[in-house]
Amino acid sequence: MFCRLCHHKEFDSLIDLDTSPLSNGYLTKKDLNKGEMWFPLHAMTCKKCGLTQLDEFERPDAIFNKDYAYYSSQSASFVEHAKNFVEKIQRNYSVTSVIEIASNDGYLLQHFDQRDVDVLGIEPSAGCAMEASVGKGIPTVAAFWNSNLAQQVDPADLIVGNNVLAHVPDLNDFIIGVRTALNPEGIATFEFPYLGDLVNNLQFDTIYHEHFSYFSFAAVCKAFARNDMFVFDVEHIPVHGGSLRIYVTHARNLKYNYKCTGNSRSDRLMLEESNNPIPLSRFSKQVHDYKLKIINHLLEEKICGRKIVIYGAAAKGNTLLNYCGIGKDIIDYAVDTTPAKQGKYLPGSRIPIHHPDILAEDKPDLIWILPWNWKHEIMKKLEFTKEWGADFLVKDGIC
Ligand code: TMP
Ligand code: ZN
Repeated sequence: MFCRLCHHKEFDSLIDLDTSPLSNGYLTKKDLNKGEMWFPLHAMTCKKCGLTQLDEFERPDAIFNKDYAYYSSQSASFVEHAKNFVEKIQRNYSVTSVIEIASNDGYLLQHFDQRDVDVLGIEPSAGCAMEASVGKGIPTVAAFWNSNLAQQVDPADLIVGNNVLAHVPDLNDFIIGVRTALNPEGIATFEFPYLGDLVNNLQFDTIYHEHFSYFSFAAVCKAFARNDMFVFDVEHIPVHGGSLRIYVTHARNLKYNYKCTGNSRSDRLMLEESNNPIPLSRFSKQVHDYKLKIINHLLEEKICGRKIVIYGAAAKGNTLLNYCGIGKDIIDYAVDTTPAKQGKYLPGSRIPIHHPDILAEDKPDLIWILPWNWKHEIMKKLEFTKEWGADFLVKDGIC
């Protein structure tokens, strides 16, 4: 394996999660008669540039196709987050044109559009792109972002890319595209799950084949620097269990002492990372201990005769289940509000996925919420299960 950023071939092991099927490979009933491919799930950190990454077993066009069922507007808190971001950007920079990469169903650009800013969405999943353009009137190109496409669009004052960097196989080409389509004094912002939080909060389940890269602040700065761009500010935000939002501009703007001269927030985070290198062997041990603890807990519950089900057939849940070897002998079924997942089976564990309505009839004793990043939203929805005294299990314990 070669580093997808600097092409170096020596790595430190961050965490080896053995093997797992592709996390979005939900099975149909017919698929149950066939085998599944299990691929190594081993996150490694490049010894030269510090980028943590997985070897590439899954092609992005196999994920973000017409069947991609994730519509950002379905989450009210996500739409609110986008609105707050737009207000903040307009307060600080008042841009007149925006390109959003991976714009999903237009959940963010709609807020710029309402402020008469020129908007353009780039979204490879045809269903999401259609919802944005037809449903919300947001001009959207159904394509993957790359340096070629960047030459065909009008440059913008602002380029936004949220939750996309981890999915990009060729990071250099992606960033060259950003540089190409960004106005001379423009800024680009990116939000992505932060490796520091992954390690500190034991979010190893966010490692799956769809996520090719895991960024520390130092690594993301290097990625932009090697492509003549400069990260001039950073915010640590609570989205998805802890993310960074970085602000980037052309490297040459530094010389002109443009607004973006680097600030203490970036310096502080850079210093914090260099003073606290990731404790590799401690992290591996913690992950392994967690596995033993969760298996033990579920077995104890099961042996006491309690019925255990899963809420949320999330990709991260598949990493956890398959790494821990937890299957149908312990979990009766999973429920999920996504129609495309209902009637299917989780990859690897082959646990069936039902509509959440089954909970009211079936009255399970313990509901294990796998998408811990949505726990508040989900627990609110599940309040009715208190009627028969169901317990919830979320990552850090029973509540
Ligand atoms: P995610 O962590 O990748 O966003 O996946 C969350 C999964 O949980 C996704 O399959 C949708 C599902 N879900 C529900 O079924 N109900 C809900 O209320 C929420 C927020 C998510
Ligand atoms: Zn590298």
